[in-house]
Amino acid sequence: MKRIVVVLALVFVLGGASPAALCGQDPLPSVVVLPTVVVLSTGGTIASTRAQREEGYAASLSGEQLVAAVPGLDRVALVEVQNVANVGSTNMTPALWLEVSRRAGEALARPEVAGVLVTHGTDTMEETAYFLDLTVSGEKPVVLVGAMRAASEPDADGPRNLLDAARVAVSEEAKGKGALVVLNGEIHAAREVTKTHALAVESFDTPEFGALGVVNVDAVRFYRAPLRRQTVELPPDVVLPTVDIIPNYAGSDGRLIRGLLKEGPVDGLVVEAAGAGNIATPLFHAVREAREAGVAVVITSRTHGGRVLPLYAGGGGGTTLHELGCVFADNLSAQKARVLLMAALTRTRDPEELRRLFER
Ligand code: SIN
Repeated sequence: MKRIVVVLALVFVLGGASPAALCGQDPLPSVVVLPTVVVLSTGGTIASTRAQREEGYAASLSGEQLVAAVPGLDRVALVEVQNVANVGSTNMTPALWLEVSRRAGEALARPEVAGVLVTHGTDTMEETAYFLDLTVSGEKPVVLVGAMRAASEPDADGPRNLLDAARVAVSEEAKGKGALVVLNGEIHAAREVTKTHALAVESFDTPEFGALGVVNVDAVRFYRAPLRRQTVELPPDVVLPTVDIIPNYAGSDGRLIRGLLKEGPVDGLVVEAAGAGNIATPLFHAVREAREAGVAVVITSRTHGGRVLPLYAGGGGGTTLHELGCVFADNLSAQKARVLLMAALTRTRDPEELRRLFER
C-alpha cells in the first residue's frame, strides 16, 4: 500500500512578509512535505556491534535500528528501509551489487523519492559506489555511507554520517553527480574516492582532486562536480563476467595468470602495473598468452595517481602491452577498473570499444 505522510509544520518567514501577512491576516500553517529517502542496508561497521572486548565486531543491526539511532533524521526526510544484506563489505559480491543497483533504480523511479542511501562497510565501499555510479541512471543521487567506529562504541560515527548522507540525498545540488560517498563531513565522487586509512575516522579521500563538497551544520555545499561519468546499461538478468586483478612486483613471473587460465573461467584481467603502465617481461609473456586465449586485459597503475599510457618499449613496456590489445584504464584504480571492465564486458569484447569506454 502506498503511504503518503504529510508533515504539518508552522513556517515562520524570517526577514520577509508572507502573502497572508501582506493582507493583514495571521500567517496560516504551511504544509511541508518531506522528501522520501530509501535506505538500502547492507551491513558493515556502521551496523556492527560486539558485546565484549574479546569478541570481534559483527554486522548485526537492521536498517531500521540504524535509522532509529539518528536524532533529527525525521526532520530531514521520510525514511523507508530495505534490508538487502548484513555482511562485512569484504563479503560484498557482484550479485549483491546487482541487487543493490536494481533496488536503487526502482526506488529512484518513484516520484516522491529524492535519493537513495546505501549503508555499507567501508572496506570495499568504493567498489560498490563505482558500480552504482555506472549502472544507476538518472539525476537523483545514490549516497553511500558507513562508519569507522562500530555502532556499539560510545563515540560511534555512524549516526552523524547517516544524518549527513540523508542531507546530501535530499539536496538539490547533489543531483546529476551520480553515486556519492559521504563520511566525516565530506562528499566524494564514486569514480575517484578511495579508502586511505585502515582505522582513522577520516578514512576516505580523493587523493588527486579532493572532495566534491562538505556537509556542515548549516548547509550541504558542493565546490566541484565529477565530469568523467558514464552509465553502462546492463542486459536484464545479467551475470557479471569474471575479472581478476593481477599485481606486478619485482620478480613477477606470470604464474598467477597461467593458474587462472588453467582453472578458468576468466573473462578479463586487470593488471596493476608499475608507474605509467609497465610490467616485468615474464609477466608480459603470460599477458600475451591471456590475450591469445581471448581474455580482455586492462592496465592500471599501482601508483594511486596519474594516468597510464603506452610510453615505454621492450617486453612489458606500455607500448608492447598496447600492441597486444591491452586497454589502458586512464587514472582508475585496479579495483575500479575491474568494476568498469565487468560492466563493459556485458556489452563488448572488442578492444577498440573497450578503449572508448575506458576513455570516457
Ligand atoms: C567492512 O567494510 O564491513 C568493515 C569495515 C568498515 O565498515 O569500516
